[in-house]
Parts: sequence; C-alpha cells; structure tokens
Amino acid sequence: MQVQLQHIHKRFGLVQANRDISLTVEGGMILGLLGENGAGKSTLMKVLSGFITADSGQILLDGRATHFTSPADALRAGVGMLHQDPLDFPPLRLLENFILGRDSQLGQRQAEAERDFRALCQQFGFDLDPQAFVSDLSVGERQQLEIVRLLWLGARTLILDEPTTGISAPQKVKLFATLRQLAAEGKSVIFVSHKLEDVEALCHRVAVLRQGALVGETAAPFSAAHLIQLMFGQEITVPERPSVPLGQPLLELRQLLVGDGRMQMGPLDLTIAAGEVIGLAGLEGSGQQLLMQACAGLLAPQAGRLWWRGCS
Ligand SMILES: Nc1ncnc2c1ncn2[C@@H]1O[C@H](COP(=O)(O)OP(=O)(O)OP(=O)(O)O)[C@@H](O)[C@H]1O
Ligand SMILES: [Mg+2]
Repeated sequence: MQVQLQHIHKRFGLVQANRDISLTVEGGMILGLLGENGAGKSTLMKVLSGFITADSGQILLDGRATHFTSPADALRAGVGMLHQDPLDFPPLRLLENFILGRDSQLGQRQAEAERDFRALCQQFGFDLDPQAFVSDLSVGERQQLEIVRLLWLGARTLILDEPTTGISAPQKVKLFATLRQLAAEGKSVIFVSHKLEDVEALCHRVAVLRQGALVGETAAPFSAAHLIQLMFGQEITVPERPSVPLGQPLLELRQLLVGDGRMQMGPLDLTIAAGEVIGLAGLEGSGQQLLMQACAGLLAPQAGRLWWRGCS
C-alpha cells in the first residue's frame, strides 16, 4: 500500500508541531522517521493513524484521499500504530487483549481468535502464551502482542514509535527480523526513532524532522554525518570531558544486598567520590530501582553496609 501525507499542519497552542509535511511511503519499504525530542514525529504518526486530526493537509492511500476520524477508522483502511507508551491492558490476558478492537461477535468466538493468534505468533517466531497476563510480559513481548493484534486487524502499513526503547538486544534483533519480514511481504513500515544506529541498520529510506518541518530525505546507504547535520542543523562534535579531581568518598557500599520480595540486587561493592558521576547501566528490572531506594534510605538492606560521608 502506498501512503502519502500531503502538506500536513498541526499546531498545539503556540507549538507548531508539524508544518507543511509531505511524505510518501511505498509498500515493501521501511521508512525511518528521524528527529530529536519534540521534532514532531509522534504527532505526524498520530495524524496518519487517526489518533489526532491535522489542522490541514491530507492523507492518500494508494492515491485515494482519505479522512480518518478515529484509530479504528485508520486500521480499517490498513494503517496501524504501535505507540511509544503501550496501549494494552495489563490486567487482561493476552488473548483478551488480542481480541480488543474486533467486533463483539468475533470476540465471542475465542477458539477462532486463539487459532489465529497462535498462527501469527508462529509466523513471526513469537513465543507468547495466549492465556498469560499482559502484566507479566516484558516490553518486547508487549510489542510482539501489539504487532500481531494490528496485523490481525488488517494493518498493511505499520507505524512503530520508538520501539527499541526498553527492549533487550535479542528482542531488538527479533523485532528487526519481523519488520524486514513484513516489508518483504509488501507491507510498509514506518520506524520512528532518534537512534541513528537503529535507523542505519534497518531502514531503506530516512526522512528527518526538525522543529516540526521535514528537513530532508535520504536513501540507504546513509551518511551518519549527513543525518546528524539534518537532525540538528549543524555538525555535532562530542565535547571533551574535562578531568575533575576526585574528592573524598561520599557514598560507600560494601557487599550490599537489597530485595523487595520479588527480586534481589547484590551483593554490590561501590565507592562514589565527591565530584564523580557514575552511570548505572542495565536493562529495565535489573535492580537499579532497588539500589537507588537503598541509597536514598527508602529500603533497608538485607545484608552488607552503606556509609554516607563516613556514617553508617
Ligand atoms: N497533545 C499535545 N498537546 C500539546 N503539545 C503537544 C501535544 N503533543 C505534542 N505536543 C508538542 O508538540 C511538539 C512535538 O511533539 P512530538 O511528541 O510530536 O515530538 P517527537 O518528535 O515525537 O518527540 P520525542 O522524540 O520526544 O517523542 C512538542 O513540542 C510537544 O511538546
Ligand atoms: Mg515521540
């Protein structure tokens, strides 16, 4: 399906979120939509998928002008969007979530829906249990659920808004393989991101937004320097980190073990000196929150000790 956006304008109060954007996506293509925070990417995609209405401009599907009044309307026409913040219902089971949005009669035919669900999961190699609860899924699995749901409801153009935030590296590999598979089937994919490396690895073309306007389009192979220039309007040089003399240790952790009944973090040894900036890296749910709570005195350690300015 060919998707064309023509002269889209959208304003929120004083903010011109989209200004005169025209963009075409062909079937079989993965288009990257790149831009820094606030550039207008989500707004444009919400217009395309019927969540909000543009102030002016039009959408053409296979050359025919359309006007969406709701996301369900857009999905009926074949445009589905996976949002930056998942729109699923954590207290429900996967199958119940999957059926949402389908007419009620079909909703009652659970066995039929479950068969379709399993077939779609098998097609993409997703390991999802239809009877599990959404609240027990990882971010990557919730994405997989939403992808099969949108495809089942007829999406031929799939929009993914910042889908690699919060998923693990293997889940990203799986997601990219899925998107390539969809493109190979002739579907169009719009991949919204501000991560250059993701766009470079996946997309056939990239469109760059800056301050609400489309500032350039380019095809693979991409030049990172050119994309950065388009995104920020100038070349970005990474500033040299000045060396800072470290002061006395402020926070010291020795064999610190913290838990909240569901998970445990540690034992951890760490010394943080005055003037030092420590990065805490790891996938969501690796224990960062427990560590921060223990450091802030909100959670008593199960074992080990913690000193702040030399006081235990
Ligand atoms: N519903 C809204 N009401 C008011 N302002 C909004 C609304 N939605 C977006 N904006 C504003 O419009 C501009 C574009 O926002 P948008 O969410 O489209 O950017 P984005 O490129 O998706 O950014 P990010 O990378 O942070 O997701 C921003 O200044 C934002 O604050
Ligand atoms: Mg956004």
